[in-house]
Amino acid sequence: MKNILITGGAGYIGSHTAVELVKAGFEPIILDNFSNSEKSVLDGLKQILGRELICYDEDCNDRGAVAKIFEKHQLSGVIHFAAYKAVGESTQVPLNYYRNNVDSLLVILDCMAKYGVKDLVFSSSCTVYGQPDTLPVTENTPRKEAESPYGNTKKICEDILRDYVKSGADTRIISLRYFNPVGAHPTSAIGELPLGTPNNLVPFITQTAAGIREKLTVFGDDYDTADGSCVRDYIHVVDLADAHVKSLAFLAQKAGNLYDIFNVGTGKGNTVLEVINTFEQVAGKKLNYTIGKRRPGDVEKVWADTGKITEVLGWQPQFTLEDSLRDSWNWQLKLVEKG
Ligand SMILES: NC(=O)c1ccc[n+]([C@@H]2O[C@H](COP(=O)([O-])OP(=O)(O)OC[C@H]3O[C@@H](n4cnc5c(N)ncnc54)[C@H](O)[C@@H]3O)[C@@H](O)[C@H]2O)c1
Repeated sequence: MKNILITGGAGYIGSHTAVELVKAGFEPIILDNFSNSEKSVLDGLKQILGRELICYDEDCNDRGAVAKIFEKHQLSGVIHFAAYKAVGESTQVPLNYYRNNVDSLLVILDCMAKYGVKDLVFSSSCTVYGQPDTLPVTENTPRKEAESPYGNTKKICEDILRDYVKSGADTRIISLRYFNPVGAHPTSAIGELPLGTPNNLVPFITQTAAGIREKLTVFGDDYDTADGSCVRDYIHVVDLADAHVKSLAFLAQKAGNLYDIFNVGTGKGNTVLEVINTFEQVAGKKLNYTIGKRRPGDVEKVWADTGKITEVLGWQPQFTLEDSLRDSWNWQLKLVEKG
C-alpha cells in the first residue's frame, strides 16, 4: 500500500481527499495541528471508511516532528494542504500567513529531499489569476499581482516549487489551482466546518437557510455579468479530491524531475444569484437575502478552462452544481441535528 502524507488532512479538502485516496488504494497519513479543523472530522472519516486513519496532531512548521513522521513511514508522496486561508485575516496578520504557508512548504520540501520522497501535490488557488483579461483562464493566463497576503503566499509557493524543480532537484511536483470548492461528502459524514462567520458563499447560504444567520448579502448586482452578480466556478469537493488522486497516479508513472500546473474547476461559471436560485430549488425553501454594495477586492468573474487536466490527467468533474448544493445542505442539516 502506498503511504501518502496529507498535511492539513483534517481540513475541508484534505478530509475528502483522504477518502478518495483510500478508495484508490492509497494509505493516507494525516498531519494536522487542528488550527482550523476539529477532531470530530476523524470520526466522520471512520464512519465512511469503517476504520481509523493514522493521524498526527503536529505543526507542519515543526521540522523535528515532521521529520519523525517521514522517518517512521515509508512515504510514496505528499499532498500539502496545510495553510491558513482567510483572505481578510491575511491582510490583518500577514506575517502569520507568510510564516505558516511559506515556511511549511520549505519544511516539507526539505524532509522530502532528506528521506527520498519524490512526489508532491500542492494546493494552489485560482486567486493567483486575479481578474483575468480573458476568460476562461488557462494555466498560461498570466498571474496578476496578488490582492492579499494569502493570495501572495500561493504565488510565492508556486514560484518556490518552479525554481526548485528548475534547479534539477530530484522531485516531481504538481500545483493544482482550485477554483471554488463547494459541497460535502454525499454521506454527510464530513463537510466544510467554517469556524466563525463563513467567508465563502455556500456555507453562508446554508447557515442562513438553517437560521444560524439572519440574512445573506449579495455583494453587488451591477457587475458586467448576466444578472449583475459575480461569477465563480464552483467545483464539488469530491471531484476536487479526485484530482489529487489522479495527480499522484500521474506523478508515479513519471521519471526524472517535473513541475506542472493544472486548473481544477468545472469549466462553467455561475453567478451568485444563480447559486442562490439553485439552492432554493434544491432545498425547497426561500432564502432571506438582500443586495448590498460591491465588496472591495472581489473579482468580477472567473472560471476555468479545464482542457489541460482532462487531457493530461484524464480528470473530469462528475458532480453538478445541484449535487454540490444538495450535499452542502444535507451536511448543514446534519450539523444542526448534532447541535
Ligand atoms: N477552500 C477553498 O476555497 C480553497 C481554494 C483554493 C485553495 N485552497 C487551499 O487548499 C488548502 C486546503 O484548504 P481547505 O479549504 O481544506 O482549508 P482548511 O482550513 O479546512 O484545511 C487546512 C487544514 O490545515 C491545517 N493546518 C493549517 N496550518 C497548519 C500547520 N502549520 N500544521 C498542520 N496543520 C495545519 C488546519 O488545521 C486545517 O485542518 C489550503 O492550502 C487552501 O489555501 C482552498
